[in-house]
Amino acid sequence: MKKFYLTTAIDYANGHPHIGHAYEKILADVICRTKRLLGLDVHFLTGLDEHGQKVEQTAKERHITPQELCDSVAQEFIEMCALLQISYDDYVRTTQPRHKVVVREILQKLFDQGDIYRAEYTGFYSTRVERFLQDKDRVDGVWPESEFGAVTEITETNYFFKLNPHKQWLIDHISSHEDFIFPKFRAKQVLEFLKEDINDLCISRPKNRLSWGIELPFDPEYVTYVWFDALINYISVVGYGREQFSEFWPVDFHVIGKDILVPAHSIYWPIMLHALEIPMPKTLLVHGWWLCSGEKMSKSVGNVVDPLDYAKQFGADAFRYFVIREMNVGQDCDFSHERFLARYNDDLGNDLGNLLSRTVNMLQRYNGGIIPEIAELEKPEREIIDLWAQTQRKVLEAYERLQLHGALEDIFTFVRAINKFLEIRAPWKLAKSEDPKHRAHLHTSLAICSEAIRLTATILAPILPTASQKMLSIFQIDRIIWGKELEWNAHPLANQSLATDAMILFPRMA
Ligand code: MSP
Repeated sequence: MKKFYLTTAIDYANGHPHIGHAYEKILADVICRTKRLLGLDVHFLTGLDEHGQKVEQTAKERHITPQELCDSVAQEFIEMCALLQISYDDYVRTTQPRHKVVVREILQKLFDQGDIYRAEYTGFYSTRVERFLQDKDRVDGVWPESEFGAVTEITETNYFFKLNPHKQWLIDHISSHEDFIFPKFRAKQVLEFLKEDINDLCISRPKNRLSWGIELPFDPEYVTYVWFDALINYISVVGYGREQFSEFWPVDFHVIGKDILVPAHSIYWPIMLHALEIPMPKTLLVHGWWLCSGEKMSKSVGNVVDPLDYAKQFGADAFRYFVIREMNVGQDCDFSHERFLARYNDDLGNDLGNLLSRTVNMLQRYNGGIIPEIAELEKPEREIIDLWAQTQRKVLEAYERLQLHGALEDIFTFVRAINKFLEIRAPWKLAKSEDPKHRAHLHTSLAICSEAIRLTATILAPILPTASQKMLSIFQIDRIIWGKELEWNAHPLANQSLATDAMILFPRMA
């Protein structure tokens, strides 16, 4: 059976994890978790991009070997994934033999086919982005230093991969496959780029300039250009060239940031695949950037957000909630600590956390910790049940259309509606009365809340995995699945004892 296969970009091994890396993994993780809950066989690949000049340079500055640098950075990124509950199935590191072997195999094949040739080239090289620059990269006649850093003119003999023969095919593919690039407006940017001639891709670096890379199989004086090597991770570790490859490929989503769409993922990668006669990825899912007060985050400005600090202080769920709630997938988004705190205290603490602790508390006080039966449905109860039916449908659709912030908006509208329902029914007042009608209302309202909490926890599971588990554990539910479980009363709770007598999910933070 074909798996649902999703990849993220592989992070450069020369820096520390920041919110951009964390967000991309969380986004990918939320998608994978929804697919698993829907019953798909998921393969989620992420990893580290370990070759290239920047890694070599950083290692030199720190007086360690590039491999030592990669090993320590890998540890940090893997730790980040663990802390953020990223449920990846495989972590690729491009220095692994399983990857390097395939890169060399592919280079040899393209060379033998005549797609790679040797030529002398003079051009302007940016170490920052690790490529020769083109005229179209200029802004007002110059290559912006903020983007490209120092640019130097270099003449050298290198190996080139032919891009132009595939250009028209690529234009046709993008134009005729609406789902190839998400969101759609990004496809225009790619087609714009393709209006002009594209230079063939220089895929080698002479060893006297850079030795930290995969040696070309047909010329030991050269190593492979880092992007050519890195992109291949998407196929190298899922069995390219072997029978099992068809279980994974074509990939369902390549999740990437907007900065690496053009040219790497929308020009080089499709053309590399086309030259190898490999089918195209289904969708390039392009997310926007996290900014700080509208500005790019940078070490020199000192506005880099450390996801680990947040996850350690507030819990992984809180950080996951914030980034998914705030960012409309595809757009840029601003990070602010005040906003984070407000979302944490208001949405998670007040709306969701209080609902749970209040309900647990009332069930203990008014019914000995046993979930009552629903006795009689009146308008307020019917409204909650109807609202759930709408919420469930809208949220599943939103997950499917990658409107994840919208999914959370709808879920929390439902949560607030339950809180309002509690205010209307006021079980604390009903509990003071011996009138059988009031007793029935008391029991029904507690049962309605319990069921609403079960459903909320179930549908929130991809985004708040820990809180969902905890919430469901009070009803002694330890396995979350979707489908029937998302229907009202699909999992009757009546007469069950609560597994706890108090639960604080998101303690208030200043
Ligand atoms: N190594 C390359 C990717 C190779 S994929 C075959 C790379 N690495 S990176 O570490 O610079 O970026 C990794 C991912 O993080 C990219 O998708 C990038 O867009 C994303 N982000 C980096 N900074 C970001 C923000 N500030 N906001 C959101 N995502 C951003 O590029």
